[in-house]
Amino acid sequence: MSPLLVVILVLLVTYKLYRFAYDKPPNTPPGIIRIPIGGSYWMLLWGNYKFPHLTVDYYVKKLKSKIISCYMGDFFAVIVNDYDSIKEVLTRDEFSARITNAEFIMDRAFGKELGIFFIDGEKWQEQRRFALRHMRDFGFGRRQEKLESEIMDEMSLFLEILKSGPAYDGEKEILKGNLALFPDILYAPAGNNIWNIVFGHRFNRNEHDVPRRLCRAAVMLLRANDPTGGAIFQRPFLKHFGNMFGYKNHIKANNIMKDIIRKYIEYHKPILTENDDRGFVDRYLKKLKEENKLDSFTEEQLIILLIDMMAPASSAVPTTITHVIKYVMHHPRVMKKIQNEIDNVVGTGRLVTWEDRKQ
Ligand code: HEM
Repeated sequence: MSPLLVVILVLLVTYKLYRFAYDKPPNTPPGIIRIPIGGSYWMLLWGNYKFPHLTVDYYVKKLKSKIISCYMGDFFAVIVNDYDSIKEVLTRDEFSARITNAEFIMDRAFGKELGIFFIDGEKWQEQRRFALRHMRDFGFGRRQEKLESEIMDEMSLFLEILKSGPAYDGEKEILKGNLALFPDILYAPAGNNIWNIVFGHRFNRNEHDVPRRLCRAAVMLLRANDPTGGAIFQRPFLKHFGNMFGYKNHIKANNIMKDIIRKYIEYHKPILTENDDRGFVDRYLKKLKEENKLDSFTEEQLIILLIDMMAPASSAVPTTITHVIKYVMHHPRVMKKIQNEIDNVVGTGRLVTWEDRKQ
């Protein structure tokens, strides 16, 4: 090949790569550069391999724009990164859609578009409305004396376990001497509180392994997934690489939750009478019996809906509380302030109530 041809070829390839890296649709916000196969996702990984979404902050500063764009694989995406834009995106109808048919998402849901997180349109409205409407009656998203007193029972038991030490094998793994393993120690009360709303039942101390298993699976599910969508979303064949891109744990965690939930639905179904109204699941099972119910109501939908409802409650609550405790431990002055406030408002003879917030 003549040297001139080589030079032309190199220039052409360089030009093509340059265009690939910097081209983006017209009238779109400043963009993160793009590399073949993974697009801008490589750059997010380069910035923070464990938490790629955190690299967004770096690009927001570098590109001097709170709204930026990038390619997730072949998908062009716009990222909003300030309060006003996020609010706009979350409240305007034209943004109210999601990717619902990604392979790895449907793999966890009987190969269908089910649940709450990954459905949209009418189906999403019907399911979300039904879930919120009926879970509210059992204390979700509002104040309810019954639920509040049962949450306080859970807190009393939690404190009792901390004080008196482990009594069961599952507790011995997370309580050793005067050490308690967080967030695991919070799993039983957190799991029980959402289970109470959903099934109208709480597990006794000797059955705490069940809510602990539920919460561990929920945390595993969240850790297996990446808020940016992740590599498997862009290239579905990567799911065949075991846990390298989180797929194995994504499916394992889903299956654990699915099995626990299915077992209790199977238990509830045959004994359900017209008068039963223990929790959200009773309402949904009754709905399934209605002849003129909407098509989106199915037992499979109920299972995935419950995973979507229970996964955040079983993971976000104990992990957020753990972070709060951790931060407070690192800021003794703040800890002292909090302690004084509790001592002044509540004292030492009783639990904190919601009512105490007013003072
Ligand atoms: C630290 C606590 C939590 C944080 C930071 C958090 C954050 C979020 C965010 C950012 C969304 C996306 C909102 C959207 O796309 O419109 C979301 C959705 C959702 N969250 Fe949470 N959440 C938390 C706790 C919970 C709890 C305790 C539950 C359930 C008991 C829950 C259930 C859900 C559900 C079901 C959705 C999907 C809603 C839908 O698609 O309609 N979250 N959450």
